[in-house]
Amino acid sequence: MHFATPFFINDTVLELKNTYFTIKKGEDDIHLLDDISIKVPSRHFMAIVGPSGCGKSTLLKLIAGINVESAGNVYWNGRDLSEEEDLEPSEIGYVPQFSIAYDELTVEESIESSVRLRVKTKNSDAFYAIVDQALRSTGLEAIKDRPVKVLSGGQKRRLALAMELVTDPVLMLCDEVTSGLDPRSEQEIVKLMYEMSRNQNRIVVNVTHSLAGLDLYDSVLVLHEGKVVYHGPPRALEHYFSVDEAENVYPTLMKRSSCEWQSSWMKRQSQYYENSGMNAHPDPNLTSHAAKTPGHVPQFFALLGRRFKIMFRDSGQLLLQIAILIGFPALVILFDLDGVDQTKSLSETLPATLEQMKQERDVATFNLNLGGLVSGLVMFQVILLTLMGSNNSAREIAGERKIFEKEKLGGVRPSVYLASKVAFLSILVFIQSFWMWLFVQTICDIPSASPNHLILLILVNAAMTAICLGISGLAKTADQASLLSIYLVGFQLPLSGAVLALPVWAAWATRPFISAYWTWAGVMDSLDPKHLRYVKEVTETWLSPVSICYVVLIVHIGIGLFLAYVGAKKAQWRE
Ligand SMILES: Nc1ncnc2c1ncn2[C@@H]1O[C@H](COP(=O)(O)OP(=O)(O)OP(=O)(O)O)[C@@H](O)[C@H]1O
Ligand SMILES: [Mg+2]
Repeated sequence: MHFATPFFINDTVLELKNTYFTIKKGEDDIHLLDDISIKVPSRHFMAIVGPSGCGKSTLLKLIAGINVESAGNVYWNGRDLSEEEDLEPSEIGYVPQFSIAYDELTVEESIESSVRLRVKTKNSDAFYAIVDQALRSTGLEAIKDRPVKVLSGGQKRRLALAMELVTDPVLMLCDEVTSGLDPRSEQEIVKLMYEMSRNQNRIVVNVTHSLAGLDLYDSVLVLHEGKVVYHGPPRALEHYFSVDEAENVYPTLMKRSSCEWQSSWMKRQSQYYENSGMNAHPDPNLTSHAAKTPGHVPQFFALLGRRFKIMFRDSGQLLLQIAILIGFPALVILFDLDGVDQTKSLSETLPATLEQMKQERDVATFNLNLGGLVSGLVMFQVILLTLMGSNNSAREIAGERKIFEKEKLGGVRPSVYLASKVAFLSILVFIQSFWMWLFVQTICDIPSASPNHLILLILVNAAMTAICLGISGLAKTADQASLLSIYLVGFQLPLSGAVLALPVWAAWATRPFISAYWTWAGVMDSLDPKHLRYVKEVTETWLSPVSICYVVLIVHIGIGLFLAYVGAKKAQWRE
């Protein structure tokens, strides 16, 4: 087989040599990618095709560095990426199968956010030049003010490409960006990717199901059960598989085993590569113009700014937050409406006569009721704040996990991401706790003289927010995180000991984990001695000194943040 002109005119830049990606299933090793050896020059547009489940996305992720090869090597311009430094985050553009933009933002804001997180710019002119260039080259200028949620499938793919183009990557990896589109939109996106690949230093790889319209690609790689069964020019595809049109390649693949296809390709690969100039050497002139990643501080403010913007745009979420903020403290008052006046009038009368003795008994009953009231009031505050805490953070990381993983790959640091979450949530926690304290205090006048009450309310909200953030970071899905967080809140009241005393051993076994107990006990311990006496008479639960309560709550916050950091750092691609 001879080609009139070599279809690969440049030098080899990306090379995979005997690469495997293997997973364990029980005792057996399963090769999801099996002995992949390919060469790709720069200024090249390659398609990866193959039946569903054959390993296309797995291969793309391996090239992107998300999957680490189990054996073999990946070279970039002669550099062994398995042993030396990986490509810089900004050198790779990866467009996954899922949407990577937030529904609440507009097209332009999404691109701006991508630039802020991934490109270090000198001034605002340079910043907007990149944004405008990305909008122009993907044909999104006319719809730049449209929110992402109303975009069509094709427009969303364009946006995803635009968000990756901002770093001027040398390697652009696209997973099914043309799938599910009508033929015309599909052709337009293929053309767009083709144009991107006409950059001297760039390789564009697109995974696709479609075997029609492959003409614009420089090469097509056919994958079958994790094995390469063809990698050559699209026009030679029909000849190689002896079919009259490319669409018939998949049925033909089923006629022989993947091992047979693989071994016959291996026999012919060098001939194909030879004839097409594939065996060239690394390109000495290859330079990367890829952008530099911004520092910690600009990334932090980019993330924080975006989080607030999303909160204010998401009207459902915002209304829920406001309803909870106003409704929960009102609920506390409602439950204790009958006793509101009582809290203000603890009696100190001493009995002298029989009449007074009777009065004293009434007073004692009254004061006992008062002890229960104060204790219950505080407990309600605490429980509702733990509920607010879990509502604040349970979905915070898990709900945007895919986008976050994508952004990590693009250079967003987990520590900075977490710091932006902590800053955002701290503001919520402070507002919620302060208002809960102020509102209830103003109406009920709970007799806790010290600022301990307010500080402990802030701490319990912070502790539950931090722990649920940890759950959110570790959970597999947002629903799982929500459910676990709700369980955690549900256990707070029965295990706090504020309502009913637990058996001593059970109390001590669970107490260390119950933030609500330490808050309630801390507030009780800070009551003035007279009130504390009556609270002690209505509860059998041990009241910890307030200083210990502070320590435990701070430890809870620390554990929550630690878990959140571990969860954020751990790679969790879910597709
Ligand atoms: N990390 C992993 N652990 C276990 N199995 C995996 C893993 N990654 C992929 N797989 C499995 O490997 C196979 C190939 O998956 P992959 O997503 O690469 O297929 P695909 O060719 O992209 O399919 P589609 O066209 O449907 O997107 C699937 O059966 C998938 O379930
Ligand atoms: Mg796939």
